[in-house]
Amino acid sequence: MTELDLPQRQAPDALMLTGFWYRALPADRVCRNQLRKATLLEIPLVIGRDRQGQPFALRDACPHRGMPLNYGAFDGENLECPYHGWQFDVHNGQCQLIPSLTSDQTMRVDRIYAGSYPCEQQDNFIWVYIPDSGPQGAGFTKPSEAPDAAPQIEKFSDRYKLAYLQAEMPVSIDHGIIGLMDPAHGPFVHQAWWWRSRHSIHEKKKNFEPIPNGFRMSAHTPSSNSAPYKLLRLYVKADSITTTIDFVLPNIRTETIRAGKYWFSSLTTVTPVTRNQCRIDVVAAWNIFRWVPFGPELLKFVFAKFVEQDRRTMEMQAEGLKHNPHLMLIDDADRPAKWYFQLKAAHLEAKRTGGEMQHPMAGPVTLRWRS
Ligand code: FES
Ligand SMILES: [Fe+2]
Repeated sequence: MTELDLPQRQAPDALMLTGFWYRALPADRVCRNQLRKATLLEIPLVIGRDRQGQPFALRDACPHRGMPLNYGAFDGENLECPYHGWQFDVHNGQCQLIPSLTSDQTMRVDRIYAGSYPCEQQDNFIWVYIPDSGPQGAGFTKPSEAPDAAPQIEKFSDRYKLAYLQAEMPVSIDHGIIGLMDPAHGPFVHQAWWWRSRHSIHEKKKNFEPIPNGFRMSAHTPSSNSAPYKLLRLYVKADSITTTIDFVLPNIRTETIRAGKYWFSSLTTVTPVTRNQCRIDVVAAWNIFRWVPFGPELLKFVFAKFVEQDRRTMEMQAEGLKHNPHLMLIDDADRPAKWYFQLKAAHLEAKRTGGEMQHPMAGPVTLRWRS
């Protein structure tokens, strides 16, 4: 059994991983020429869209005297701080104007930057890249570039539907993630007369394999309790359905279900907002049920119920975690949670030494549990 580190017992940089893309806001919540607030990894951000609709993200603090820039005036191109009127280019954070300077004062305005973060829109979400040494606000730090594009949902046809769900959880990213990958809570948390009861518990055996930065539950016929599967098998032969579930650092779970030309794909993230708060965002894309009345609504209803049950559970769990209890992880049901902590540790160690990341799994593993 492994002791579980509570957030307050961990080193400051071990809980929330930098150097990754994170989902910040649903795309439809940010209109052109508008500013919105968001928090990622305890960093206050102001997020907006320029006149062309391009999203941007700045640290929500003026580099002059810390005024939150979301209170400022935005003309679709430059953002003006409401305190002394300094103006910043929203895409790179570079200062454009300091109104108090007289014509003979030669201060280099263009050397000042409001912290700016790489920002992209992908599958109905605005993603922000949080670099390792972030723009601290007051400063001369030029924006850093993201090494790759923001993650995308895998799609297998040109036409598909897309939907999202989100829920705030009052627990750390670690509890949010291990709750998400935990197979043993299903019969207790997700019971409903139309779904399953705790009497439907049975033994399960699943194969896992290492993948870069994470692990995969190998392609298999989905669990009879999986939501899309229950719906899907109403329309296609049950044994033609396969699913693959991946987890990759820092916080991404993808599930792909395929049955002939039909597919369902989801990308779920657990985003650290603060040390003790995270947010779960499920975005799903599919080309099934397009011709079935209520198909998507039914799926959304089922997912919304699931997410709400998880949210409520973590809300209750947070009451217990306040008192800093001892925790344990058992085999095999909590093995994915152990891999998650080992992956994080291996990632941080590789960063510290500059070497290759040593994957905690040597090869494929079969896990067994009852759920
Ligand atoms: S605090 Fe922003 S311009 Fe002074
Ligand atoms: Fe759950």
